Amino acid sequence: MKIPIFALYAIAITFMANQALADLSRIENKEGVVYYHGDPSKKRVALTFDDGPYEPYTSEILEILKSNDIKATFFLIGDNVKDFPECAKRIVRYGHAIGNHTFYHPDLRFISVLGIRREINRGEDIIFKTTGVKTSLFRPPYTCVNERINRQANNSGYTVIGWSVSSKDGGKKIKPEKIAEITLPYVKNGSIILLHDGDRIKGSSRLETVKALPLIIKSLKEQGYHFVTIPQLLRIQGTFDEGGFLLWRNPIFYDKLKIDILHFLCNPSLLAYKYLADFCLSPVF
Ligand code: NI
Repeated sequence: MKIPIFALYAIAITFMANQALADLSRIENKEGVVYYHGDPSKKRVALTFDDGPYEPYTSEILEILKSNDIKATFFLIGDNVKDFPECAKRIVRYGHAIGNHTFYHPDLRFISVLGIRREINRGEDIIFKTTGVKTSLFRPPYTCVNERINRQANNSGYTVIGWSVSSKDGGKKIKPEKIAEITLPYVKNGSIILLHDGDRIKGSSRLETVKALPLIIKSLKEQGYHFVTIPQLLRIQGTFDEGGFLLWRNPIFYDKLKIDILHFLCNPSLLAYKYLADFCLSPVF
């Protein structure tokens, strides 16, 4: 029997990806690790919302999550916490996890180490003063990370959190049905899903995301997924005690190769992003 070459190629890629997952699962909670995925053997996913709090959208999202009995994770921009303090408190009161997404949302790759530290600390301070929560979760703006950024985050006691499925709701206006359509095919066990409840541009609309959310939730519930927060998905409890799956550790070729395979399996469109900017998951968002 003749086996087509592309079939052999697909088998080889699948084998390498499985190996990569097996390897990655053992390298837990090391400095320089970015978590982007949970346990692939459990039917659980984590919804994450970036760039809020931002009204009225965050409150609308909170009500949708409440009516579906779902807990999610919100990565807050300090400047928006300053503008919407009551909303930030409500996120915590409703039982969701929160993370630090810096104060002004700059691309940290292009600022000094001092600047990185200041962004992390200012975000941390206002989140703590407003909500009383000292979060250990950090997602860099645009999910752009390098060793320098990662070291600063780790030194400040943070676990760096990426994502594996993008709803692509962060760019141009996009219909709610389209957001759901883009997101759903890539969701699998352990997925961390990126959505946006806010923006750093004052007056932006997140109406499409608000409308897309019930569609995404409905479909995933029908498929039997359970919704958990990032600390639940990765079993993080304020410390680096237990972990999920990492994105990269050191930017050496071997790790990069594994990352590319994993990215491709999670979301083929990520590959294109990857080569636009090294170690940047989402230059658009
Ligand atoms: Ni962001």
